[in-house]
Amino acid sequence: MTRMKLVLLCVPAAVAVGCATFPDQVTTQKLAEKMVAEAYPGMPESLTRRTVQDQSQKICSKIGDAKLTEAEAAEVVKLARASIKYPQSGKLVGDWKVGAKLAYNGSGSRIRGGKLEKAKENGALCSNCHALDPKEVNVGNLAPALTDFGAQRGNSEAMVKYAYEKIYNSWAYFPCSNMPRLGHDGHLTPEQITHVVAYLIDPASPVNRK
Ligand code: HEC
Repeated sequence: MTRMKLVLLCVPAAVAVGCATFPDQVTTQKLAEKMVAEAYPGMPESLTRRTVQDQSQKICSKIGDAKLTEAEAAEVVKLARASIKYPQSGKLVGDWKVGAKLAYNGSGSRIRGGKLEKAKENGALCSNCHALDPKEVNVGNLAPALTDFGAQRGNSEAMVKYAYEKIYNSWAYFPCSNMPRLGHDGHLTPEQITHVVAYLIDPASPVNRK
């Protein structure tokens, strides 16, 4: 038998043996979860709790193999709505200049050498997925462009509230969207979100100027 033929015979045999001894789906999932849970020893709970799926993420994980039912989508929206917190000031529109910096800033906590390095303040990095200022070319295209957002939609109370809530927890308007739940996850504070809202809505913001 040539060496090639031997290899061809052995590969299916190895796969068959591999399958026979591989743990079942539930065991595999438990093992994977254990590995993730133990991957960050000594990290604060505020960070490690994000390695455990919340109820909405559990529902959203169905995507790929199955469609959400209407009831599941409604539950994700309900949980998202209940999560939204507003700034103490009650003012949902902050300073667009602060928002402009946040929208392109990707800083955040990171783990290096097993230690957590905390950034002074997290960035929002909207530009990773959205076009905003038309003069900025280094932007992502994973999400709809937000250029002209305020110019097109105005700054009514309802529009301001929508922008704030969308950024706080995007699933309140689009269950299981790829947009991160920035306020809900504690990545952005309510105050930071008001500045990003201003960046989208303020007529003086570069987002709304030609
Ligand atoms: C990881 C990619 C990603 C990031 C980062 C991201 N978004 Fe999104 N965003 C999306 C996607 C995808 C959609 C479309 C689906 C949806 O509506 O959730 C979206 C939708 C939106 C919408 C609704 C669009 C509309 O026409 O009404 C707004 C507003 C928005 N994002 C604002 C922001 C802002 C502001 C930031 C930064 C604070 C941001 N997004 C960060 C992916 C992202």
